[in-house]
Amino acid sequence: MVQNPYHQPVMVQEVVELLRPISPRLIVDATYGGGGHTRAMLEAFPDLTVVAIDQDPDAIAQGPAGDAVRLVQANFASLDQIAQEICSEEISNGAPIPCIDGFVFDIGVSSHQIDQPERGFSYRRRGPIDMRMDRDAELGADAIVNHWPVDDIADILWRYGEERMARRIARAIVAARPITDTEHLAVVVAESVPAAVRRRKHPARKVFQAIRIAVNDELGSLELGLEAAIHWVRPGGRVLVISYHSLEDRIVKRRFAAGTAGCECPPDFPVCNCGRVAELRSPARKPLRPTDTEVEANPRSRSAILRVAEKVVA
Ligand SMILES: C[S@@+](CC[C@H](N)C(=O)[O-])C[C@H]1O[C@@H](n2cnc3c(N)ncnc32)[C@H](O)[C@@H]1O
Repeated sequence: MVQNPYHQPVMVQEVVELLRPISPRLIVDATYGGGGHTRAMLEAFPDLTVVAIDQDPDAIAQGPAGDAVRLVQANFASLDQIAQEICSEEISNGAPIPCIDGFVFDIGVSSHQIDQPERGFSYRRRGPIDMRMDRDAELGADAIVNHWPVDDIADILWRYGEERMARRIARAIVAARPITDTEHLAVVVAESVPAAVRRRKHPARKVFQAIRIAVNDELGSLELGLEAAIHWVRPGGRVLVISYHSLEDRIVKRRFAAGTAGCECPPDFPVCNCGRVAELRSPARKPLRPTDTEVEANPRSRSAILRVAEKVVA
């Protein structure tokens, strides 16, 4: 496997194989990162054009992974406008119609973001308390850590970190202000929990995850991006999502399940009168996970879960 120093892509072969049956010509890679998925798709499908999106200027600054790539620096929360523009030449009844063969989301952070101390994503590296993927965004992690009220901090630690000691940790953060850098924050968190908890996993892991999700509104963006992808994928096209923790995966699972649910009338009704028709179908029986070999070669892939849905042909 060729190592990409920016980010080692996860489940690349699985992504390509899930797209192969639809012979894609136009894909939106909603999370370009180091361009690993884009590159693999271009190699597998010679006629392919990729519109590659990332909100991080560092990802865009690497340049396109090939001639057939158009880079867009944006949050995929605005995918509806981006896709509408892409499909603006396919008009029916005066409005653009879904024209995109596939969407690939490989959400979360890239290794590049975690490994650069100055981005402030890692509790293991000393840097400013930042965590913005989009460096022009207004809200950085410092505002949360050093200025938010204790209740609001406890709320995000509980909701986005599923942290059982959310209130206790939030109180410790507020009491230790000003917290100067990521290392300081990690120490404050570690010292706020009982020694037995400290010995298991580093308690700052969930806290950093929660603050990062809040800073980047990751779950809100995913809901919006997913909705737009399901709308703008053409009938017979596919939407693929790789997520890395249960909060993200739950959103994908529920949305795909809602889309695949058809008529909800009782089975003894002779004809459907609820009017519900499935907009999606599931080409894979179960979500996919990385192989043991991949996890061994790239431990950051271990929590990945890949889901796919196909737009139903009306
Ligand atoms: C796991 S990496 C993707 C890696 C990529 N698939 C590759 O093969 O190199 C996630 C990337 O998605 C970007 N990202 C995360 N959320 C985003 C959002 N809401 N809008 C746009 N980009 C986002 C991050 O900036 C990061 O570069």
